[in-house]
Amino acid sequence: MKYPISVELTKQSRLAEVDFDNLIFGRVMSDHMFVADYIDGEWTDCRILPYGPMPMSPAIMGLHYGQAIFEGMKANKSTKTGEPILFRPELHVERLNRSAKRLAMPEIPAEIFLEGVHRLVDLDRDFIPQSEGSALYLRPHMFATDAYLGVRASDTYRFVIMSCPVGPYYPKPVKIKVAEKYVRAFPGGVGFAKAAGNYAATLAPALEAKEQGFDQILWLDGKEFKYLQECGTMNIFVVIDGKVITPPTTDAILAGITRDSLIHLLKDKGFEVEERNISIQEVIEAHQAGKLDEMFGSGTAAVISHISDFSYKGKNFELSPIQGRKVGPMAKKLIQDYKVDAVEDTFNWLLPV
Ligand code: COI
Repeated sequence: MKYPISVELTKQSRLAEVDFDNLIFGRVMSDHMFVADYIDGEWTDCRILPYGPMPMSPAIMGLHYGQAIFEGMKANKSTKTGEPILFRPELHVERLNRSAKRLAMPEIPAEIFLEGVHRLVDLDRDFIPQSEGSALYLRPHMFATDAYLGVRASDTYRFVIMSCPVGPYYPKPVKIKVAEKYVRAFPGGVGFAKAAGNYAATLAPALEAKEQGFDQILWLDGKEFKYLQECGTMNIFVVIDGKVITPPTTDAILAGITRDSLIHLLKDKGFEVEERNISIQEVIEAHQAGKLDEMFGSGTAAVISHISDFSYKGKNFELSPIQGRKVGPMAKKLIQDYKVDAVEDTFNWLLPV
């Protein structure tokens, strides 16, 4: 093995402290974490440690100049074998490495990422919750560790994977505000990357929207302020007259793995799915014509989050009740069933741990 992994087990498991009936997203971590360091141009010192604080210089470059990227993925238990399974993990390696490249960070070898995930999930398998819509959420991330304040790419980095048992991210349908003042991403920028700074930039606009009674922002493109990009931390889907439409992934839109999986699953069920630009005007016109069936966001954390209504330039547009919807609720079940191995693995997406 090119990258041997040392293991230090926790002396005091926190499993008994987890309230599996009341899981708050991202609050309680599992017992262990995986760590690797990038030094002198090489990934080294792969290790599993008890989850906990890591001493760091306050000068590390990840804190100052934002070389910090992450992934979000989930492990479940197979309803067939009871063993842990991963959903399309290789796509997460590829996406983390695309983010790394854009932020002048080193790529992580797939072997380190995947072996780290496997070993960690295997070790903390009892933290995988089994109630509907829950999972063990894994957070692989990488940040710059040079203690240096000059502006340049760091020479050293740390890669960490931690995990936490989670329930549904958005328990109820969300009310969204279409962005009017702020943009999330623009051509040539870093919108496609899972860069920490992309999320930081949305926090103040999201707070402002919250004060006005909204849960999330529907981001429009940064050039013409016209086309739908993403919704909160999710990709966006619109259903017009039975047809499913989602914007194509560009350098301003995150290539969601749930998004991609939904496109495959919906097409497999015979739905027409279009990946194309869709303007807010087209959505409003469809609403006015009574043809806007549904809108929903998709993401690893959120799975599918139904949208109850959206507001644009002070006008509110209500969508049909969730109970009457065909696509979103069905797509949610399709993907959830797939992830827990309750249906056939048609696309070969599941990897046993
Ligand atoms: C995910 O869906 O994994 C995300 O990245 C959302 C997260 C920021 C909560």
